[in-house]
Amino acid sequence: MFRDDLLANKTVLVTGGGSGLGLSMSKAFAALGARVAITGRSEERLAAAAGDIGPPDRVFTHPCDVRDFAQVEAMAAAVAERFGPIDVLVNNAAGNFLSPTEDLSPNGFNAVVSTVLNGTFHATLAVGRGMIASGKGGSILNIVTTYAWTGSAFVIPSAAAKAGVLAMTRSLAVEWATYGIRTNAIAPGPFPTEGAWNALMPTPELEAEARARIPMGRFGKHDELTNLASFLISDGAPYINGEVVTIDGGEWIGSGGEFNGLTRIPRDAVKSALKAMRGK
Ligand code: HXC
Repeated sequence: MFRDDLLANKTVLVTGGGSGLGLSMSKAFAALGARVAITGRSEERLAAAAGDIGPPDRVFTHPCDVRDFAQVEAMAAAVAERFGPIDVLVNNAAGNFLSPTEDLSPNGFNAVVSTVLNGTFHATLAVGRGMIASGKGGSILNIVTTYAWTGSAFVIPSAAAKAGVLAMTRSLAVEWATYGIRTNAIAPGPFPTEGAWNALMPTPELEAEARARIPMGRFGKHDELTNLASFLISDGAPYINGEVVTIDGGEWIGSGGEFNGLTRIPRDAVKSALKAMRGK
């Protein structure tokens, strides 16, 4: 797909890089020549992931909870000490669960918002200051979701936090362009991961309902997302700044159009009905 050295000589930090899409992106970046640092709360999970990502001289792990700025600062400093200035930050760490809003506790709301919104800010601040100080600039890629702009029932902490991250993406794209820092986002639809599926697709019925909403009729494949991420953080995209790229098989836009529901009826039945209407 890409040249093997697309990301050679880049140091990339991926938050939540020990599992799910973060791990898939980390593997893809390493395969394209990057030095990859991953962080997350579980030291054991990071250690287990590191061997899958690449050789020890190009992979670094440092645990931290992104909700705690002091831990994030220490982690960013450790990465810079190991690999030199960080060129790319991927804000991927997230938390989410389904809950009727009337059943949410303030602490549950805070657990998600402080991970997604505060965590993204903490990593952006710590790493961004380093990018500015190095004079080399860099690239920040935030992983949001399509309901960052539509909102979504039953996940309001995540929807509110991702909307905040989207606003931060666009704001910093303008503010930090002067330092040579590009800030972009990817808005994935459903991509199967253990964490997301356990939290958000608890029954086969919900999974089937989610799949049925996707015009392309299937969930995303991890390499489809990692290809997009690799391009956006690479030197092949130097003028893309402040953009959010949706990758969802047409899901979100498919749920909005007045007549989109007709796609869920067999096409022959639609054609027969229209023919009958015209015949009247
Ligand atoms: C209700 C819950 C809950 C649940 C946690 N809480 N899980 N409330 N339903 N399922 C509440 C707890 O009761 C508690 O409040 C508070 O949250 C903190 O809970 P803790 O157990 O202390 O957990 P904590 O370590 O703080 O982290 C909570 C978490 C975490 C952030 C939700 O479990 C997490 O990160 N899970 C990862 C799940 C995941 O991977 N999600 C996928 C994200 S992908 P009280 O009041 O009781 O003290 C994504 C993209 C969406 O979001 C796109 C889809 C298409």
